[in-house]
Amino acid sequence: MKTTTDFFKMKQNAQKITMITAYDYPSAKLVEQAGTDLILVGDSLGMVVLGYDSTVPVTMEDMIHHGKAVKRGAKDTFIVIDMPFMSYHISNRETLINATRLIQETGANAVKLEGADDVIDQINSLTNAGIPVMAHLGLTPQSVGVLGGYKVQGKSSEEAKLLIQNALKCQAAGAFAIVLECVPMQVAKEVSDQLDIPTIGIGAGSDTDGQVLVYHDLITYGVDRVAKFVKQYTNVNDPISLALDQYISEVRIGAFPEMKHSFQMKAEEVKSLYG
Ligand code: KIV
Ligand code: NA
Repeated sequence: MKTTTDFFKMKQNAQKITMITAYDYPSAKLVEQAGTDLILVGDSLGMVVLGYDSTVPVTMEDMIHHGKAVKRGAKDTFIVIDMPFMSYHISNRETLINATRLIQETGANAVKLEGADDVIDQINSLTNAGIPVMAHLGLTPQSVGVLGGYKVQGKSSEEAKLLIQNALKCQAAGAFAIVLECVPMQVAKEVSDQLDIPTIGIGAGSDTDGQVLVYHDLITYGVDRVAKFVKQYTNVNDPISLALDQYISEVRIGAFPEMKHSFQMKAEEVKSLYG
């Protein structure tokens, strides 16, 4: 399993870092088999797995339930788990308690939280307590209500400068890496150049130190529309739908199951069964 030191070295050696989300045992198994550097148990599970409109309804219990399943499927990969909405804003004490639960109950290696100025204290106390923290700047989906939608962040030079300052603050507070979501590629490049810790981009262009995508987006599984920044490497919706249609129609016409799917009694047992 790679460690935070390895991610730091990968940046120094200009080796790109890969992160993919996973939410359950099968997705974790496949993502680990593929050899990703990190797995993210993202609160995006609220949308792609639980069917909510945003990540806001996701609870600590949801994260723990899914995080445990991911760990069972990916025992040898560094796992980052999202702290859900409002689990790190009420007090430092509550933040520490919630992060401890996420790490201890699921076996994840690090937590991720969104925001900058408002969460610098939390990043400090978590890392001081021994919990590695990944920061998340730019488009921070838990604040969608305040941001007024899922929009590119840091488009003006003023906003961009603030974002760069915030990234430096996260680094100073002890974050081991930073997700940059939906920011202009020039801003992501500048942040990546200025920081010693790696940046992991999503919708942030190719100059970040690593990339992350949501599993269901990457393979087109259960999602219809995806954002501009997603590359759909395959579409598993189609073969799944085809298989389900075939099963239903074969059951209806009696074509499934066949003899080869059925169990047999011995001939003498059949005879005595019918008397
Ligand atoms: O929840 C998630 O999937 C994320 C990634 C988009 C970075 O936070
Ligand atoms: Na998230």
